Amino acid sequence: MRIIMLGAPGAGKGTQAKRIAEKYDIPHISTGDIFRENIKNGTELGNKAKAYMEAGDLVPDELVLELIMDRFEKEDCANGYVLDGFPRTIPQAEALDEALEAKGQAIDNVIDVDVPDEHIITRMAGRRTCAHCGAIFHLEHMPPKIEGKCDQCGGHLMMREDDQPETVLARLKTYHEQTQPLKDYYGAKDLVHSVDGTQDREVVFENVVKILGE
Ligand code: AP5
Ligand code: MG
Repeated sequence: MRIIMLGAPGAGKGTQAKRIAEKYDIPHISTGDIFRENIKNGTELGNKAKAYMEAGDLVPDELVLELIMDRFEKEDCANGYVLDGFPRTIPQAEALDEALEAKGQAIDNVIDVDVPDEHIITRMAGRRTCAHCGAIFHLEHMPPKIEGKCDQCGGHLMMREDDQPETVLARLKTYHEQTQPLKDYYGAKDLVHSVDGTQDREVVFENVVKILGE
């Protein structure tokens, strides 16, 4: 099962992708998480990506493609994956299509998590992410059991650097200009299913499962 998550920053792609990965036993591949891990570890890739991410811009396609094509070669991708944050531009989608075609594979479903811009800024202000395992929380909608600590691993909860309101606005602009056109790209292939991402996350997941099958 090969799935792409589409949606604005903060729409809930990561939240749903983690659930999908668990239920269907496929890896969750988040390019944003991979970049953040590289920044944390001070790698060359991380150093190259950092300034773009902090400005709310996209990391150049060639850097993303190199990283993702390597990731697809890992054994855990044999039965598919849920892609979160990739592709994000038409050239990335075309490169993915080409790589899949060469393997005789295809994308099965594109899930578009739909949340209007006006919800996004407040959502981002409340997001907290575990510095250790990457679990996602929200101060209001999904608070941790112990303040500042991850329910899953006890790690320290942090606010993401790019969740400051001015960076969120820049990310939204980038999304509308460069990523939203992918809805039409995959719409033309009849792969897009939209879910209302403003509903409770459990309801969103039930709707995702209706699309993907039990
Ligand atoms: P990335 O990490 O992918 O960020 P993003 O797309 O901006 O999305 P987010 O991770 O912010 O949001 P999300 O949709 O995953 O929401 P979440 O589930 O956390 O990318 C970061 C940066 O990396 C980019 O800006 C770019 O620079 C670079 N990059 C990455 N991939 C790239 C690529 N392919 N090409 C070029 N550059 C790339 O939820 C958000 C909050 O809402 C949480 O607090 C959550 O608890 C809460 N929440 C979730 N669902 C609900 C709900 N139903 N109701 C209420 N609250 C909810
Ligand atoms: Mg995410």
